[in-house]
Amino acid sequence: MNRNKGSFAVLVAAQTLAALLFAGLGLPAQQAPSPSTAKQEILKRVLEAPPPVQPIPYSHKKHLAMGLTCDLCHTNPEPGVLMKFPETATCMGCHATVAKDKPAIRKLAEYAKSKTPIPWVRVYVVLPGVSWNHRAHLQAGTKCETCHGQVEQLEVMARVTGVTAMFGCIDCHEKHNARAECETCHKP
Ligand code: HEC
Ligand code: HEC
Ligand code: HEC
Ligand code: HEC
Ligand code: HEC
Repeated sequence: MNRNKGSFAVLVAAQTLAALLFAGLGLPAQQAPSPSTAKQEILKRVLEAPPPVQPIPYSHKKHLAMGLTCDLCHTNPEPGVLMKFPETATCMGCHATVAKDKPAIRKLAEYAKSKTPIPWVRVYVVLPGVSWNHRAHLQAGTKCETCHGQVEQLEVMARVTGVTAMFGCIDCHEKHNARAECETCHKP
């Protein structure tokens, strides 16, 4: 287990956040928001955005409970920037037979048959132009759950951390003594 897990601002759970915001209400109205209040506001916006409706109602919770691991579906091919979404064939390895009469699985089988990639809607996205690379982070030892939360509990994939917000990146860089000048993430 990652020893830093749970200690990151990016991992503030919605309930804790609500409690923090509530505590913040005690401040005199004329007082300028502190940097941490500003972070909480950003985080609140990030976490409150409803998860997108996906073309097929895939559940991480259900599938990870079967003991499947992330790398069955998400590999990190060259040049390492992106994690891949699963090949439909990976799904069909089971669903050619499992639950094949369910409407969602029929739809899955049609994507497989027509060789059309499933148009999954993106959940975590950084602004275009920001320097980002999964592999650099995986090699530095950061774990999926540090940035994407307890995926195995998610029936529907949703943003549960503020990792796509600038402070989510910078707070962690500062903790790990990773570079955090503007040019680290923004090309001049
Ligand atoms: C059986 C295949 C499968 C496994 C195993 C799996 N995933 Fe996924 N994952 C998917 C599919 C399909 C999607 C796209 C649909 C969705 O967002 O729910 C997805 C989406 C995601 C996303 C959202 C990406 C984005 O920005 O849109 C994250 C993050 C993610 N998975 C992390 C994980 C992690 C971490 C694990 C292991 C703990 C894992 N997944 C295991 C199939 C899988
Ligand atoms: C240091 C934080 C961090 C770690 C660690 C991390 N991710 Fe991500 N992940 C992100 C960010 C930020 C994005 C959005 C990137 C973008 O816009 O392309 C993302 C996007 C994704 C996506 C969507 C496709 C893509 O690459 O944009 C998937 C799938 C995903 N992550 C899965 C995983 C899995 C599985 C692991 C562990 C093996 C993991 N991530 C580890 C931060 C992280
Ligand atoms: C290791 C085998 C396995 C893999 C791989 C797998 N699934 Fe499943 N999936 C299952 C099982 C088992 C169930 C539960 C079936 C049931 O409830 O009858 C299930 C259930 C589902 C359901 C719910 C069906 C329903 O309506 O009840 C969907 C949707 C689904 N899977 C989509 C996917 C997608 C998309 C992928 C690939 C990203 C995938 N599965 C990969 C085994 C698998
Ligand atoms: C969980 C902690 C964590 C989070 C969250 C995180 N990073 Fe990092 N990042 C690191 C570490 C650790 C390194 C590796 C530093 C090293 O190897 O010297 C790194 C390295 C990098 C590098 C390479 C820097 C270099 O030395 O060239 C870039 C670019 C980067 N991160 C961008 C981002 C962006 C953009 C985000 C947010 C979307 C982000 N990081 C979120 C921990 C994190
Ligand atoms: C560790 C990575 C990282 C560092 C260091 C960093 N940023 Fe950012 N920055 C980001 C990310 C990620 C976003 C996108 C946030 C979002 O989508 O909400 C962003 C967004 C921005 C934006 C908004 C861009 C827009 O088009 O709306 C500005 C302005 C900005 N950064 C300026 C700076 C300045 C100035 C510095 C240096 C003091 C800096 N950043 C350092 C990661 C970083």
